[in-house]
Amino acid sequence: MRERILQELYKRRDEFVSGTELADLLGISRVAVWKHIEALKQGYEILAISGKGYKIKDCYNIIMPLKLKDELKTKCIGKDILYYQETASTNELARKLLAEGKINTGTVIIAGRQTAGKGRRGRSWNSPHGGVWMSLLLRPCLDLQATALLSLVFAVAVASALDKFLDSSVQIKWPNDIYVNQKKLAGILLELSGELDRADYLIAGIGINVNVESTDLPDPAEKAATSIMIEARSNFNLSVVLQEVLQSLDSYYDKYIHQGFDEILEEFKDRCFHLGKEISIQAGEKVIRGINSDIDINGSLWIDTGREKFKLNTGDVALI
Ligand code: BTN
Repeated sequence: MRERILQELYKRRDEFVSGTELADLLGISRVAVWKHIEALKQGYEILAISGKGYKIKDCYNIIMPLKLKDELKTKCIGKDILYYQETASTNELARKLLAEGKINTGTVIIAGRQTAGKGRRGRSWNSPHGGVWMSLLLRPCLDLQATALLSLVFAVAVASALDKFLDSSVQIKWPNDIYVNQKKLAGILLELSGELDRADYLIAGIGINVNVESTDLPDPAEKAATSIMIEARSNFNLSVVLQEVLQSLDSYYDKYIHQGFDEILEEFKDRCFHLGKEISIQAGEKVIRGINSDIDINGSLWIDTGREKFKLNTGDVALI
């Protein structure tokens, strides 16, 4: 019912819609409309003026899960869409719902904002209103190593979807950070569980700064971050971005499962801004400095110091 109210307000976003009209349209009482609006106000900016009715104030940051599910043309991702106005972390919620047997493969959990968003390597992830914060649950019939490669596959998928909203080309920092104009735009956190020969499940958490203001981004001194809105100098409809990204994730996932990693790796390399350049990378206690000579078919990064070649499976790359 709440989503039907939201859809109606969105359809008529340039005018006020009275409580009586909504009540008649949906076959409920005006008091029920008021109660639903009060609940919706927790996650959406809705103006309520007595004698006039209700109007959506910020129509860019609206996600309507039922509408999204209807419009998606995916094979696997987005078979179920759960939307929460606020949660601590969609990855944590996915894990909990999975343990309770409440979600199936292909489910996408989206939040309007996260209060304890998680980043890679134990970092936190700022997730204010205006971003895409979501987690996908998948159970690919792959071993753990092949499942882990999805971290690079999804980076290519997200980058290729976000390209449609920006003039500058969207790039990747190994293994899966999404950059534009040398600033981080989106991140991916893959959590998997299973035996070596077979992954049990995979939770892919994806965070995209869409209409996020610079004041809501992490401290610039700490790490350079940006949003689509900042780079493109205009707001984007969150649902449109979300739909594009889900569509792309589904198509790259399908391609990876059926055709393997070769072609996707080439796309990854094309977008990887530090390949062939001098980088430094923290590997455990050591910092290795050299030329990033390759990213191989297993997703490992190679660094050539001039004296030695190192192969790394994890780490934080910095361009020198
Ligand atoms: C990174 O450090 O680059 C990864 C960031 C991943 C953030 C997303 S937002 C949705 C999902 N839920 C989380 O708590 N984290 C991921």
